[in-house]
Amino acid sequence: MGMSGKSLLVGVSGGIAAYKSAELVRSLVKCGASVQVVMTRNATHFITPLTLQVLSEQPVCLDLFDLEAESQIGHIQAARAAELIVVAPATANIIAKMAAGIADDYLTTAILAATAPVLVCPAMNVKMFEHPATQRNLGTLKDLGYHVLDPDVGSMACKEEGAGRLADLSKIMEKIQTLLTTPSLAGLKVLISAGPTWEPFDPVRFITNPSSGKMGFALARVAARRAAEVHLVTGPVSLAPPSEVTLHRVVTAREMQHQIEELAAHMDVIIMSAAVGDYRPSQTAPQKVKKIEGRQEVVLEKNPDILLSLGRARKDSKCRVLVGFAAETENLLENAREKLEKKNLDFIVANNLTQRGSGFATDTNQVKILERSGKILELPFMTKEEVAERIWDHVELFLEAKTP
Ligand code: CTP
Repeated sequence: MGMSGKSLLVGVSGGIAAYKSAELVRSLVKCGASVQVVMTRNATHFITPLTLQVLSEQPVCLDLFDLEAESQIGHIQAARAAELIVVAPATANIIAKMAAGIADDYLTTAILAATAPVLVCPAMNVKMFEHPATQRNLGTLKDLGYHVLDPDVGSMACKEEGAGRLADLSKIMEKIQTLLTTPSLAGLKVLISAGPTWEPFDPVRFITNPSSGKMGFALARVAARRAAEVHLVTGPVSLAPPSEVTLHRVVTAREMQHQIEELAAHMDVIIMSAAVGDYRPSQTAPQKVKKIEGRQEVVLEKNPDILLSLGRARKDSKCRVLVGFAAETENLLENAREKLEKKNLDFIVANNLTQRGSGFATDTNQVKILERSGKILELPFMTKEEVAERIWDHVELFLEAKTP
């Protein structure tokens, strides 16, 4: 994740979810961020400052009148240093104070003195959350330009059900990542395809491939962080939908083609990372096919080549950058180059499926980016998320070059 070297201030206020701040701080530090924790007095009843001090690898700020720390006016320094402030959990009380501009402890004072963006992650009892006063205060925070991450719905420590659980750690991390990312794709509509397709020959069996969708989902996540309007067309996968992305679920190659054709006309960038099945059984039995003596044969029929059609239709479309993947087990560069030309792409991402840690269902990938000019960019072994970042960097170069 691109959090390395970023300075964050994590404010922890006094609710039962305060214990979850330990995992948040740990995850941020693991991603390379420098984390200054500021606790309210009430928070210390739920989690010790020592825990957060060890995890953040820095002294925790707690006392506004600490003689040593405040010899440098520490709360102002902390506010200045932060590139982002995250209040997690944010209780009804601290939300009310922030909405009113009250500064009566270290955290509220630092927030008021800061110019960095502030992310508020509410966590409280459902009735407290739904109370008109809290809703009004959250509205005020939004009007003031604070970012509010809605709490999750579920069962609570107080044995009630509803909205008020601290948003899941992955959602908080994603939101932090977005707020720290330059919105370089703002105003652009992008379409990404992901995952395998299922080509059924009866209601319970199908032909497919081991694609997990991880590369396409990473591309969608990174584009959403860069503020693009993202449409993700995915075959059957078991991944959680990325936030801020419009998800279109399909099953077969023909459904994928239909969905993509419906969207393609409005897209500025299209990246086909789906492992589309090239063939489908020519017939789909209405009922489960029974075992028979001897051989059972399935006749296959060719599926549409979605990317080939997109490439052919380019002159009539708005699409400024068209990108494909080449999944190969031999002659990587030669085959990739052929697809790049034939499908009329700006560049192609060549993936060697035989290389360990690359290709289907892994979290990592090593790819080469081939351009029409003959230029080849060889990327080192990295996570799929990092590969996605490099692919979008490359798309941005093409967009820039095409901007009159
Ligand atoms: N693709 C597509 N429709 C298909 C097959 C592939 O849109 N029916 C897209 C893939 O999403 C990928 C690119 O075309 O971006 C290349 O896919 P790949 O499977 O590597 O190659 P194919 O064109 O299918 O050729 P082959 O299977 O012969 O290698």
